[in-house]
Amino acid sequence: MPEVAPVVQQKAEIQTPLKNGVAPVKVNRDEYADGKAARIWDVFVGDRETRAKNIKSFLIRILREHGCKRILDAACGTGVDSIVLLEEGFEVVSVDASHQMLKSAYRERWNRRKEAAFDNWVIEQGNWLTIDKDIKSHIGDGFDAVICLGSSFSHLHDTHGDQKEHKQAIGNFMKCLKPGGLLLIDHRNYDQLIKTGDTSESDYSNNVYYNATHKTPIRINTKIHYENDKPKMITRDYLIGEGDNITELNFSFHPHTLTSFTNLLKGVFGTNAPYTVYGDFKPVNLLDVPTYYIHQIKKIN
Ligand SMILES: C[S@@+](CC[C@H](N)C(=O)[O-])C[C@H]1O[C@@H](n2cnc3c(N)ncnc32)[C@H](O)[C@@H]1O
Repeated sequence: MPEVAPVVQQKAEIQTPLKNGVAPVKVNRDEYADGKAARIWDVFVGDRETRAKNIKSFLIRILREHGCKRILDAACGTGVDSIVLLEEGFEVVSVDASHQMLKSAYRERWNRRKEAAFDNWVIEQGNWLTIDKDIKSHIGDGFDAVICLGSSFSHLHDTHGDQKEHKQAIGNFMKCLKPGGLLLIDHRNYDQLIKTGDTSESDYSNNVYYNATHKTPIRINTKIHYENDKPKMITRDYLIGEGDNITELNFSFHPHTLTSFTNLLKGVFGTNAPYTVYGDFKPVNLLDVPTYYIHQIKKIN
């Protein structure tokens, strides 16, 4: 039997609300820039087969049901889902802000360049705030689908307190879609975290994306930071490995709630845009406490 190391959870520390309106933690704009996350990303993803199976039974099923062929993976990271899409016959443009994360995707494209799908795989460095310009020459008549998955979008902070940047990024995803195209985008279930202060739902094992159920122990320290009595930011510090071989990663996230994210999407796509929400790749009513909410919204014009 393989050795399975525990994923240690720590209780969230809820900090005293700040009254002076100053953000409690300095936001690092690119938490992937030093390459540490890229080097360790496979540990988070865990068993690639399990991830691919989940992606096929959820994402690829939806894309096929909607006749989607050209896909923009707007947060491709190391390319984990883009690769499955290519293997399943989709045409993929993959974008990420982090060169460090993209290095793995470039390597895979090179290693598999004799396969036409990989030879044609477009990988670009780009940022959601400018993505429509960053990949202008690849948009054409618009993508059939834009995906932003794996708990990525929460990395974008609400710097001005009015969700200006969130709206801009979602608006840019919409610009990349053809009329009738789909956006699939997710965030963690921060409602539950905020409600209970309990981080046990926020582990990196046995969820639809990340299956770190192998030898490397991961310790996670989650904090909820408040500003003017409202949750402003979630920070999550990871210690991955043991002994002399420990990597520390520090991430911060915007705490999107189910309602606020639905409103954000509908505010940009329009209230008439066909919209569905899933919990952990299942109809949302099937799970009491999903780890992730995955939103699907269609561009109507
Ligand atoms: C949690 S990782 C997920 C990567 C991949 N989807 C996966 O599931 O393995 C989030 C990714 O979003 C990227 N990212 C964060 N902010 C971004 C931005 N503003 N524009 C583009 N990519 C961004 C990061 O560089 C990182 O690769």
